[in-house]
Amino acid sequence: MKRISIIGSGNVGTNTAFFIAETRTADVLLVDIKDGIAAGKALDLMEAGPVRGYATSIRGTGKIDAIAGSDVVIIAAGVIRKPGQQREDVYRDNAPIVSAIARDIRRLAPSAVVINVVEPIDLLTLLIQETLGTDRLKVMGIGGLLTSTRIRFLVSKALGVSPREVTGLIIGPHHSSMVFLKDTIRVSGIPAEALLGEARLCELVEEARNAGDAILQLARRSTAFYASCAATAALVEAIVGNTKALLPVSVRCDGEYGIKGLAIGVPAYVGEGGVAGIVELKLSTADREAFDKAAAALRTAHDNIVAGAA
Ligand code: 2OP
Repeated sequence: MKRISIIGSGNVGTNTAFFIAETRTADVLLVDIKDGIAAGKALDLMEAGPVRGYATSIRGTGKIDAIAGSDVVIIAAGVIRKPGQQREDVYRDNAPIVSAIARDIRRLAPSAVVINVVEPIDLLTLLIQETLGTDRLKVMGIGGLLTSTRIRFLVSKALGVSPREVTGLIIGPHHSSMVFLKDTIRVSGIPAEALLGEARLCELVEEARNAGDAILQLARRSTAFYASCAATAALVEAIVGNTKALLPVSVRCDGEYGIKGLAIGVPAYVGEGGVAGIVELKLSTADREAFDKAAAALRTAHDNIVAGAA
C-alpha cells in the first residue's frame, strides 16, 4: 500500500482521509501539531471501517517526523477565510504555515508528490514548490477539480440526470476569475448548452463559480470542504493508481499557456510522479482572453501580496 500523509486534521484533513479510506486507495497518516487530535480522529475513522467496509490503516500523530518516506503528502493546515474575505486575504496567515510544512517535507519526504489544499491555492502551491525546490510537476494544488465537481452536480440536478455522465473542465486560478471551458460541459458527450440552453447554463456556471462564497455565507464558521476533499481524494487515486487521469490542477507553469513562474489551473495527466504532462488546448478566443486576464490578475496579486508579505 502507498503511504499518504495528511498534514492538518481539521475538516479537510479528516474528510480527505475518510474518502481515501472509502475508496480503499492507500494507508493514511494524519498529522496535527495539536496533541491527540490526529490520533483521536484516526481512531474514530478506523472504528467506522467495519461498518463502511474499509480496513486500510489510518493512524494519527502529533510528530511530523512520522511523514518520512511518504509517497504523497497533502497539506491541509491553515486558517480559513471568514465571510466577506477573499481567498488572497488569508495569504499572510497561511504562507508561514505552509512554508514550514514544505521545509519538513523537504527534510523527511523529499521524493513525495505534494498536494496543496490551503487557500489561496495557486499562490501557496507556488510557494510550496519554491520552498521544496523540487520538480515543479510534483506539486499540485486543487482548484479546477473542485469547481468541476460543482458544475457537474449543478448540471445534473438541473437536468435530472446522473452526475456521473456529466463532465466539465475549469482552468485558470481558483478565484472568481476561473475559466469554465463551456464546450467541455457535457452530458454523455452532448454539450450541456444544447440540453439546457445558453442562458440556463450561464446561470449554473455562475452558481458554480460562486459556490465557495455561497457555502461560506451559509455555514459562516466553515468554508466548503466536502467537495475539496473529494477532489483531493480523486487526485490521490490518480497518483496511487498511476491512472494518468486528465484533471485540472494548479501547477507551476514553465511556458505552458504563455505562463512562467506562476502556479495556475491547467489540464494535466496525473500519475504516480505527479503531473505526467500538461495538455495545452487551443482555446476559443473568448476563453483565451478570459484566461489571459485571470492570469494577469494572478500575477499582480502575486507581485503585490508576496512582495508585501516579505
Ligand atoms: C472553495 O472554493 C474553500 O475556496 C474553497 O470552497
